[in-house]
Amino acid sequence: MTAFTPTTVFITGASSGIGAACARAFANIGAKLVVVARRRERLDAIAKELATAHRTKTHVATLDVRDRKSVERVVDSLPEPFAAVDVLINNAGLGIGLDKLHEGNVDEWDLMIDTNIKGLLYVSRALIPGMVARGKGHVINLGSLAGREVYPGGAVYAATKYAVRALTKALRLDLLGTGLRVTTIDPGMVDTEFSTVRFRGDKARADKVYQGLQPLTGDDIADAVLFCATRPPHVDISELVLMPTAQGSTTMAHRAPPAAGPASR
Ligand SMILES: NC(=O)c1ccc[n+]([C@@H]2O[C@H](COP(=O)([O-])OP(=O)(O)OC[C@H]3O[C@@H](n4cnc5c(N)ncnc54)[C@H](OP(=O)(O)O)[C@@H]3O)[C@@H](O)[C@H]2O)c1
Repeated sequence: MTAFTPTTVFITGASSGIGAACARAFANIGAKLVVVARRRERLDAIAKELATAHRTKTHVATLDVRDRKSVERVVDSLPEPFAAVDVLINNAGLGIGLDKLHEGNVDEWDLMIDTNIKGLLYVSRALIPGMVARGKGHVINLGSLAGREVYPGGAVYAATKYAVRALTKALRLDLLGTGLRVTTIDPGMVDTEFSTVRFRGDKARADKVYQGLQPLTGDDIADAVLFCATRPPHVDISELVLMPTAQGSTTMAHRAPPAAGPASR
């Protein structure tokens, strides 16, 4: 079996967490990168780091995936060395708030739906036709364990990730016969900026999510993404679920009790 070596990898949400870890993992095997997100200075810092570490050629573009015209512009104006994207990692996404549905913030629902579903669709629609024309490509979507099990306060985030799973499955059917591959990677708890975003910048509250257990890291997920992308062309890992060993479901985790502090007087 001959493994596949990606040459040009397009990563959305590469400024942080899983996306940044994917950029490092694919740079490490010599791929060229297209990295997009809203925070330009973060992307520039990653591109600089990878140019120094691996001589990686990186094309950086500031992009809000909710803006369809900008998505089309960025894809249509990819410089020639980056135009033949063979791996698309649809990673940009967020969960925000943990409110009960009947008390939820409707603007935050829009933000999640527009980013996690519509943004993923816009980027896919812009890039997949080129892959089909070249008869080669791999679309890797970042779903979530929340796309398989709901949890209290997570209704809309889970709904967006159920949608990602549905889109992944349907896309795979639509692409049958083209030679393209489609994968969803569905992680449980990963320690990134995800929880800080979820709790609207409250880092102390975000840290509590991971207290007493060892969460996955962005590198753990990037390792799985890289594994899927480097299988021989006839192998499509269609779904991959990863959880910390200490997590059983979206609502169950085993946490070590906090270490005893000094006795109170
Ligand atoms: N962490 C977890 O526990 C976990 C578990 C399951 C699934 N996931 C999924 O994994 C993916 C990555 O999340 P993460 O954990 O790495 O969180 P993160 O550290 O907060 O990274 C999220 C990335 O998405 C980008 N992004 C958000 N909105 C965007 C927009 N409108 N346009 C372009 N980029 C946007 C952010 O960049 P800018 O802010 O610079 O735009 C950032 O680079 C998400 O789809 C998330 O749902 C995470």
